[in-house]
Order: sequence, then C-alpha cells, then structure tokens
Amino acid sequence: MNNGTMKAVGVIPGKREVALLWHPAPRIGAPTELKIRTLEVGICGTDREICTFAYGSPPTDCEYLVLGHEALGEVVEVGPRVTAFKPGDLVVPTVRRPCPHAHCVSCRNARQDFCFTGDFTERGIKMVHGYLTEFFVEDQAHLNAVPPGLKDVAVLVEPLTVAEKALAQLWQVQSRLNWGAGNGESPGAGKTAVVLGAGPVGILGTMALLVRGFRTWVYSRSAEPNPKAELVNSIGAKYVSSETVPLGEFARLTGPIDVVYEAVGVAKITFDVMKILGLNGAFIFTGIPPERPAIPVEADTLMRRIVLMNQAIIGTVNADRRAFEDAIRDLDLFKQRWPDSLRRVISGRHPLENYRELLLDKPAGIKQVITIGA
Ligand code: BGC
Ligand code: ZN
Repeated sequence: MNNGTMKAVGVIPGKREVALLWHPAPRIGAPTELKIRTLEVGICGTDREICTFAYGSPPTDCEYLVLGHEALGEVVEVGPRVTAFKPGDLVVPTVRRPCPHAHCVSCRNARQDFCFTGDFTERGIKMVHGYLTEFFVEDQAHLNAVPPGLKDVAVLVEPLTVAEKALAQLWQVQSRLNWGAGNGESPGAGKTAVVLGAGPVGILGTMALLVRGFRTWVYSRSAEPNPKAELVNSIGAKYVSSETVPLGEFARLTGPIDVVYEAVGVAKITFDVMKILGLNGAFIFTGIPPERPAIPVEADTLMRRIVLMNQAIIGTVNADRRAFEDAIRDLDLFKQRWPDSLRRVISGRHPLENYRELLLDKPAGIKQVITIGA
C-alpha cells in the first residue's frame, strides 16, 4: 500500500501493455459489502489470452483492467449488514456479475452464468477489475466461505467450478434417460468418462469424475513419461498419450464412452474424439480457443452419429453459487483421498513481481499461483 493505492497487475489495451500498476485501494461502499485481503490468485489460459488483447475489456471509465479471477482471500472488514462472514474468514469470490436488464430471468435469479443478454460483467475479464491486487471489495452475495483446512488448495476452487457446473449440466441432460445407477450407488458407477487435456481444468475434472465413480481416461498429447501423466495415474485414472496411441486404438482401450469432458481448447483433437462418443453419450465442451484458421471436420459422420446415437453436445461457461459450494466440498474430498496429488496440481507459487513470465511466457507445469498476502 502506498498513499491510498496498492499494487496490481493489469492490461492496458490502448497501449497493448501488461503492467504492474498502482490501483486505488477499495473501500466498502454498501452495507452488505466486505473488504478482503487477497492471499492467492491462480493464472489461467483466459488471463494469458487477455494479455494478447484478443479478449477481455477494462471498465468503461478506466484505461486498464486489473486481471485475476481465481482468488482466495481473507476478510479484513465487514459492512454493517454482512451476516455470513467475519474478519479472518477465508473466502473465494465468484467471477460473473448479473446484467442490469429486468427481463433477464437468469440474472434476476442469480444465474448470471446463463445470462440471456450478454451484458453481464466478469471480474478480471469483462469490465470489472479482478483480484490480482492487494485488497478487493465484494458483496457477500458473491463470496463463498472456505474452511481453514483447505487454505493451501482453495485457490483451485474456481477452476474446479468448471467441472462442477459441467457435471450439474450432465445430470440434467442425462435425466432424459435412465442414466443413474439408482440403488444409492455413485452416479458414475459403471460408466466411462474421457477427459481431453491434462491441464488444471482437465485434472480437476478427472478428480471430480473419479469421486463420482466414473472409470476415467485422460487423453492428452504429451508422450509418457511426464509429470501430468504421473499425477493422473496416481489418482486412479488412466493417462493415454494421443501422440503414441492413435484414436482407433484408444477407443478399443476405453470401450463405449458415456461422457467426454473437453478441457483442451483445441478443435482438431476435440472433433476427432467426438467420433468415438458412445450411445446416448454426452460431450461437454469447456475450452475457449482463440480464433484460428478453419480445419476440416468429418461433419457428415458426426451428424449421423449424433442423431442415430442420441448424443448430447453441451457447452458450459462460468459457474453459479452451487458449483462453488460443490467445488469446496469436493476439494475437501480430494484432499482426503489424494493429499499429495492434489498438492501437486499447484506447480509453483510466485510473487506478484513475476507476473510477466507467468502471463506472457509459454505455460509451464500445471497451475501457477501468485501469492500476494500472507
Ligand atoms: C472463467 C469463467 C468465465 C470465462 C469466460 C473463464 O476462464 O473461469 O468464469 O466465464 O473464462 O470469460
Ligand atoms: Zn443477464
């Protein structure tokens, strides 16, 4: 802190710069708001894409956007009408804020993840500053309490919400058929899932599928041995390299596939794998690829299979409160089941000053985290 300002990392699109900035320290402005000290912020592909200026936008009255949407913080001050939190509590904020339109039934019902107008905002991404700074202020409606025992991994809550929302969608879509195991068994028991990609979203999604009983395969490019493959195999999923095992052979290994969870953000491999999705299967897209030149896709084959095999193709973005709550609960389960593997999802913790290599260089490891407060 310095003269009412604090350190922040942001983009200045008008100058095409990524920079360490002095940003005004926030103050509680409404009775249900809290002031939070940022402890950790995770870096993801969305942040890196914003740094190429292909995505993201600053608030209308500001030339820069403070980055960061995967945060863990500690409450330092509460407004007079805050009921659910007190100073010292650990919190993870959500990302998206509702649009202003009265006719948007999603936003009016706290489901801005399904906003109909597109006029939602997102902290650290779209028109509201993010969390890559020393303090932030937020309304209690957008905060989730984290138990102290999860402090060392809670920065993974937001990337895990991608899988939690995807799974909530999956159950809804598959309720079209008799899909549940019934008889109180894990919902994924006896079913086969394939995860595309072994980045943080893929690995956390793999864990979420495993705790629900799915037989889970991870199909990812890098040949073995490699650290991501080791991590995947250590939790009871099976890593297969698409570089060494071609699609046909992979399909013979997995048998009929009930669910594909795409977490790779690359169209070629994604549409190839769509060709091996099974009867009544669901294919969930979570990746947000940048614009790239068109590629050939076996569209007629896919169309025939989607129809004749009752397949559902689902896109999912952002997450509601329930997905955050599910993520916090699951993270606790992962920590009990795989304490070492879960810890290894965080590849490194870095000071704010190292932002350039984390945001601009080729990504290394799995999840890189910036540590701000203690
Ligand atoms: C964030 C989401 C957001 C999406 C699109 C992702 O990285 O996790 O919350 O909705 O980017 O902006
Ligand atoms: Zn809306």
